[in-house]
Amino acid sequence: MTRNGEFLFDEAIRAFRERSGQLIVEVGAIRNRDGQATDGHSTLHWPHDATVWSVDNDPKAVNLTRVLTADRPTVMCVLADAIAFLRTFPFGIDLLYLDGPHPDRDGGRQWHFEAYRAATMNPRSVLLIDDTDVPRFGKAEFVVPAALGDGFQIVSSGRQTLLVR
Ligand SMILES: C[S@@+](CC[C@H](N)C(=O)[O-])C[C@H]1O[C@@H](n2cnc3c(N)ncnc32)[C@H](O)[C@@H]1O
Repeated sequence: MTRNGEFLFDEAIRAFRERSGQLIVEVGAIRNRDGQATDGHSTLHWPHDATVWSVDNDPKAVNLTRVLTADRPTVMCVLADAIAFLRTFPFGIDLLYLDGPHPDRDGGRQWHFEAYRAATMNPRSVLLIDDTDVPRFGKAEFVVPAALGDGFQIVSSGRQTLLVR
């Protein structure tokens, strides 16, 4: 749902670098190959020197992301439910990107809250959430209050919301 030109990937990566970040987890891989879709092709934005785990429960999205990042050995494409994945992920996360199921279908807002809760964020870390320019913050509705309670601060909010601590 995000429109081009209003992504906060560059700002998120700047904050990630300021924190000497190394590990990125992305919830929601690339599902559309072409640029006509409103998706941001997020995986392609992440720095080449970062370790990236891209998680999606749709085999087509995982396979497409694998193809598009074939030249990047530090991108791991995982077919899994992201909450289950995050619950057992053994490393602290420096940048978490939340771009999973639609916020207004099948409890998508609560789903993103549970995904955030399942993640182990490092003390100094970055949180970026997509599709937040809809009523009541979209995918971030329940994530933002929880993250504020965990010491994050909002840097910018529009079609994406960026928080850091
Ligand atoms: C908006 S798309 C992600 C777009 C991508 N981040 C980009 O920028 O191109 C949302 C993705 O969330 C995935 N998804 C939905 N439910 C999920 C779940 N329970 N676990 C993991 N991924 C899920 C969908 O399969 C879909 O590919």
